[in-house]
Amino acid sequence: MSFAALRTRFCEMVGCEYPIVQTGMGWVSGVRLTSATSAAGGFGILAAATMTFEQLESAIREVKQRTDRPFGVNMRGDQPDVGRFADLVIRERVRLTSFASPPTKDLVRKLKDAGVLTMPTIGAPRHAQKMAEWGVDAVIAQGHEGGGHTGPIATSLLLPSVTKAVSIPVIGAGGFHDGRGLVAALAYGAAGIAMGTRFLLTRESRVPDDVKATYLKTNLMGTVVTTAIDGAPQRVIRTDLIDRLERANPLFRLPRALANAWRFRNLTGTSIVNLVREGLAMRESQELTWAQLAMAANAPMLTKATMVDGNLEAGILPTGQVVGTIESLPTVAELIGGLMAEAEATLRRLAA
Ligand SMILES: Cc1cc2nc3c(=O)[nH]c(=O)nc-3n(C[C@H](O)[C@H](O)[C@H](O)COP(=O)(O)O)c2cc1C
Repeated sequence: MSFAALRTRFCEMVGCEYPIVQTGMGWVSGVRLTSATSAAGGFGILAAATMTFEQLESAIREVKQRTDRPFGVNMRGDQPDVGRFADLVIRERVRLTSFASPPTKDLVRKLKDAGVLTMPTIGAPRHAQKMAEWGVDAVIAQGHEGGGHTGPIATSLLLPSVTKAVSIPVIGAGGFHDGRGLVAALAYGAAGIAMGTRFLLTRESRVPDDVKATYLKTNLMGTVVTTAIDGAPQRVIRTDLIDRLERANPLFRLPRALANAWRFRNLTGTSIVNLVREGLAMRESQELTWAQLAMAANAPMLTKATMVDGNLEAGILPTGQVVGTIESLPTVAELIGGLMAEAEATLRRLAA
């Protein structure tokens, strides 16, 4: 038996089979993960906020070579080259753009006029309302337990509040990992779920094996939400580095952060001018201290040190609290197939 409830209006809107989104995770969501997700019937999203223009260009082409199913691109509304990235997404006819930090009204209009759907991540009902007024097509509502930058409201409370506040499709995020969770999200009025950490812990994710092993060892108490990295609350695995950053006097953090920013500046092709420009934009939007500003410009590099280079001591490991419930490294097809089978079994159990 297959259930109509599991084919939601999000599926109709983006053209995927199952209401499961693999989110854009900086340094993690690359060609392999995104194409595997879309090929398996979910909706994969490439993480472009940590890519150069050229890297994104070739990543989009490679995904298209691997699957003819639709996929998306994630960026930050406040990244300096967002206009150029948007032009690329339009030119390549990418189905949807998701946003870590909100896009401007003009950017939403530009993408919409060109036929690209928009889906920012929000952490509060009033943000969802504002985005809906600006014309976005859907929102990802990420609760406190979610990975990376995250808000203060728990998913179980955020989701029903957001689905009540807006009429566009709402995708629940933060803490999802199985079919029961998908059914729960649908019960709250969501049109699907988005998962970060669960997809990070699959065979196709590009994260080095020993970093994946560290995630798998982390229990439900092993994560922390800290503002010590870039000034905005971010959920990461609690490590010695995080403990030291949390204890450090902001004045002490500044020289260290500047030194790191300088050392790492070439790794993403980010020039020091761009680092400073980005940092200043963040300072304006988030009222950061100068020390936090330096850390902010530096933060993507700290994530790269772990997620790409496998340096467990020097880097940060963004994660959702859900990491504490995950014990396996399935393929993406196994994950999505198992999750949908469990969602169907759950619906049958509840109807019996
Ligand atoms: C390693 C990591 C990197 C992330 N990077 C981004 C990013 O670049 N852009 C974004 O919109 N969200 C980012 N996030 C948030 C996820 O896209 C997603 O919303 C979140 O992980 C959902 O919570 P979950 O981990 O409980 O599934 C990141 C999360 C993780 C774990």
